[in-house]
Amino acid sequence: MSEEKILVTAALPYANGPIHLGHLSGAYLPADIYARYQRSKGRDIIFVCGSDEHGVPITISADKEKVKPQVIIDRYHEINKKAFEQFGMSFDIYSRTSIPIHHETAKEFFLEYYNRNLLNEKKTNQFYDEKVKMFLPDRYVEGTCPKCGYEEARSDECENCGALYDPSELKNPKSKISGETPVLKETSHWYFPLGNYQTRLEKYIAEMDGKYGWKENVLQYCRGWFKDGLRDRAYTRDLDWGVAVPLPDANGKVLYVWFEAVLGYISASKELSKQRGDENLWKEYWQGKNTKYVAFIGKDNVVFHTIIFPAMLMAWNDGEKEKYILPQNVPANEFLNFEGKKFSKSRNWGIDVIDFLAEFPADSLRYTLAANLPENRDTDFYWKEFQMRHNSELADILGNFVNRTFTFAHKHFDGKVPPCSNLEAIDTEMLQLLKSYPSKVSEFFEKYKLKDGVFEIINLARAGNKYFNDSEPWATVKSDKDKCAATINISLNIIYTLAELLSPVIPNASAKIFKMLNSSPVKWDDCAEASLPDGLQLNDAEILFAKIEDSVIEQQVAKLGISANIQKPELQPKIGIEDFAKLELRTATIVEAERVKKSDKLIKLKVDLGFEHRQVIAGIGKSFNPEDLINKKVVVVANLKPAKLMGLESQGMILAVEKEDGSLSLLTYDEKVVNGTKAK
Ligand code: MF3
Ligand code: ZN
Repeated sequence: MSEEKILVTAALPYANGPIHLGHLSGAYLPADIYARYQRSKGRDIIFVCGSDEHGVPITISADKEKVKPQVIIDRYHEINKKAFEQFGMSFDIYSRTSIPIHHETAKEFFLEYYNRNLLNEKKTNQFYDEKVKMFLPDRYVEGTCPKCGYEEARSDECENCGALYDPSELKNPKSKISGETPVLKETSHWYFPLGNYQTRLEKYIAEMDGKYGWKENVLQYCRGWFKDGLRDRAYTRDLDWGVAVPLPDANGKVLYVWFEAVLGYISASKELSKQRGDENLWKEYWQGKNTKYVAFIGKDNVVFHTIIFPAMLMAWNDGEKEKYILPQNVPANEFLNFEGKKFSKSRNWGIDVIDFLAEFPADSLRYTLAANLPENRDTDFYWKEFQMRHNSELADILGNFVNRTFTFAHKHFDGKVPPCSNLEAIDTEMLQLLKSYPSKVSEFFEKYKLKDGVFEIINLARAGNKYFNDSEPWATVKSDKDKCAATINISLNIIYTLAELLSPVIPNASAKIFKMLNSSPVKWDDCAEASLPDGLQLNDAEILFAKIEDSVIEQQVAKLGISANIQKPELQPKIGIEDFAKLELRTATIVEAERVKKSDKLIKLKVDLGFEHRQVIAGIGKSFNPEDLINKKVVVVANLKPAKLMGLESQGMILAVEKEDGSLSLLTYDEKVVNGTKAK
């Protein structure tokens, strides 16, 4: 039998926004560590991903910006592709679902089912938004539940009481897109008979679980779905963005995004075949007898990868054409939260990958995320923990071990690998321990326990440090040079092993270490044989990880949750409290307002300061009508030197701020405050 091939896919991110750290630790980093590890094992593997470029949210973003969906997907495809590159994702291809080969593939699957009469055509009434002229997917309709009165119920399902009903029963339906009341309109769609595959799906998953140990959290989701019972799923939608339904009477209909996005893995593999000049390459991975397929995803994608996609492949495989393999495992992660809360773009909670990598090395991020993967439960990213892991684990434990070993080799052994002879117990024990590492880490990685594997590797660096300390080369260099040579030789060999074992996790640092060692990567299984040749000339040591200062981290924390992400302005020099006390900011009510003649900008105000009336000439005429200003409570700078504006004296100034559109907003307040009260 030929050598096993491996197909690795990572969920296709929507090209509708930038990816954040949560995406990386949910699916992409685990997939990349796994893929790089398998390559290091010498396995024949392809690793594919790409942008998911259809679906309603993309059309909504496009409408909001008044551009075509193509503009949105082009933008985020590029942004995310670049972010992945900077993060060090080793995809063999990063494709996209808008390309012709994908449309063809998606249509081919639909037609295969259609022609074999697998699909059910059904007429239903669906909400239609007449303002934006589109049928509304369920999550874009909100109304009052006919059973319990819950006001945020979906069109056919209430989250509050669990009731299922016909959309016509929903009270006060509202379109979440336009806010208008949608109408019910008849439409017809094709449905995929998911229920017909339930028995086989249950058997498939039980079998895979038995043999390959699926993750408990993934099984849990599947059981829930099976318990509810699988039902027909609409395969098509009324939408003008997506893969057109390839039938003559299907104008304005596209394939439901999930039914084609999962096929994006196949079309990306076809694209890769083209790039490599071997049109049939993809078949070896998708249709080969001896291939294992692993699909990395985040937990919100489980049903699509353990139920819908396998059912689609089963349905295909029941036909006459060449058969596809099913995932051997779907190691979905839970979520990563950010400093104790969910990531949120609108609340500015979290950080985009590109922004992160502009400030910190990719390896530091990869390591921190890897050490804290949400493999079994949700975990959090904390800036402080990032700093701690970078400084103590990467810089102190790993970096320091490498650095002190190299310094020693350069200072006392002409920068060459010294010979290794007359080994003592401490040395042979270390060598033995070293030899056990590749298989120990493999065991974890093969079972998708990446976090545990990474922990083991850093333990090897710890062991290396301890060995170095206990061997006291600084003493033996004077008393027993052979022993010192053995210590440095073995330490260099540990570093060599570390470079290989760490290559899936921190590839850049790993490459640097190989360069310092004047050596090339080896196969995973051979990396702990202490095979650095005696006398090999080493290169200069480089700093692998520079420490991250507290202030740098504090700056990042300070950016969190601020409402706008504007550039920090040049602030005026600091003032003391006594300077501030000189400022007379006092409350007042506007009692009269009229336009200054021949000026569209100036308004003449009379303000009640509690102790006197003042005339203020304010440059707010482009933003307000005088009559709207009467009775407004404002803040007046009451000790500003009087000034003349168009011949009129202004005895103070009222405070306002400019909005993004250039118009002004008065600084005002609701509470009852006596006029003339000083702000402090
Ligand atoms: N775009 C989806 C998401 O970000 C994932 C699609 S995975 C695929 O949640 F398999 F459907 F492509
Ligand atoms: Zn209800």
